Amino acid sequence: MSGTVELFDGRGWTPVCDQDALTPGRGVAVLTEDGRQIAVFLDRAGGLHALDNRDPFSGAYVISRGILGSRGDTPTVASPMYKHVFDLRDGRCLDEETAPDGTPAMLRTYPVRSTAGTPSGLSSPSERV
Ligand code: FES
Repeated sequence: MSGTVELFDGRGWTPVCDQDALTPGRGVAVLTEDGRQIAVFLDRAGGLHALDNRDPFSGAYVISRGILGSRGDTPTVASPMYKHVFDLRDGRCLDEETAPDGTPAMLRTYPVRSTAGTPSGLSSPSERV
């Protein structure tokens, strides 16, 4: 089943790539029109997730190269830098509460969907815009 992956940017749904371009269990980095880098993942269950590509601990744009996994029932992505683990659903870091710059250790998440109807990691547009 193919389709187009779309991100909700706060105003509307923006197509970002073909779903065929995503490999289950892997991520891709997407550059938005306003210059944000977003990591988009297709998990092995077919769910889509979109989070900031910037790792708040290293400052590097590497989350899209992170490793998907789980802690208990929580689907996770581990940053390839220092291996911090983030909840794929809300972007919260499960290892540390605070990033080195003093801000809360979390990745912003974005609503993402496929026109083929693949369920999104989020059920409604995020208010954290
Ligand atoms: S400092 Fe690396 S896991 Fe928290």
